[in-house]
Amino acid sequence: MARTLERAPEELRHGRLQRLGEGIGKVVYASEHWVVKRERSSSEVVALILLWKMLRRSAHRIPFGWGDRLLKRPSRIIRFMRMVVEGVMAVMPRNIWYTDHVAGVLRTYVARDRRGTRLAREHLADSPLLPEVISFPAETVLVGGWPGWLTIREATERVENTLDRRVEELAAAGDFTTLETWLNRFLDTRLSGWQSGLFSVDAHLKNFGVIGDRVVLLDTGGLTNRWSDIADRLAKDEKVEEPHVQLGLGAALAKRPELARRFNDRWKSMVNRSAVGDILGAECEPAD
Ligand SMILES: Nc1ncnc2c1ncn2[C@@H]1O[C@H](COP(=O)(O)OP(=O)(O)O)[C@@H](O)[C@H]1O
Ligand SMILES: [Mg+2]
Repeated sequence: MARTLERAPEELRHGRLQRLGEGIGKVVYASEHWVVKRERSSSEVVALILLWKMLRRSAHRIPFGWGDRLLKRPSRIIRFMRMVVEGVMAVMPRNIWYTDHVAGVLRTYVARDRRGTRLAREHLADSPLLPEVISFPAETVLVGGWPGWLTIREATERVENTLDRRVEELAAAGDFTTLETWLNRFLDTRLSGWQSGLFSVDAHLKNFGVIGDRVVLLDTGGLTNRWSDIADRLAKDEKVEEPHVQLGLGAALAKRPELARRFNDRWKSMVNRSAVGDILGAECEPAD
């Protein structure tokens, strides 16, 4: 159960909260110790889906490696491009941009997000796998950028860093021993999740964060207990030759091939239908 407070913490009520991170469906704002999430409107989500489609198709044609940089990290430029796409959507006939594929991606995101939120509430309340959540009576707070304010009823513990950032920092500092410890903790956190009966189909490093010596799951959106969803995801994972590259760790581990190999070996021994099925199979909803 989320801890219930009589009022939102003071640090959320005073001053303007800074934009800290974003995903396809949410924008995250933070005070010193707490984050609050704004759900994007569906036209915002659709604009992002279209933008990513275009970027993925053409990024390699943008010179100086800028295309790859764009794909790596949503930035001011991406935000601006998204607004342009939304503008174009507003004047262009809907049947041109609202294709079956776009509708499908939107539907999948929304369904996964709802289901994951519900499952996390049912299975992972008070679990060390998640950051703490507090709830309080509705409060309107100021946030950076448009629309400038947000009404919130809950907040989530702010993590020290997302896991992708922590790993990048450790690689830049040349501390590969600690980096390996964090990669092992990441796999340990996934394993504990499976032991609690849940699997994340969206387990990339940006969706995990660091608190003390724990790796926690930031995005409950990918959580499922449906074996058909899990098996689909794992069937794709099993085909990946170098999981570390898939996870965006290619550059960080470029000078440490033996570390990459140890990580990939452990990953492959864990992230497959047979190993996950042994842990989680009996708990799953049968395929429908
Ligand atoms: N508790 C948190 N502390 C710090 N950063 C966070 C926290 N929760 C989310 N974030 C950041 O915000 C991003 C988007 O949040 P997320 O819940 O993953 O939204 P989406 O469903 O759109 O992917 C995350 O990838 C992460 O970088
Ligand atoms: Mg996310």
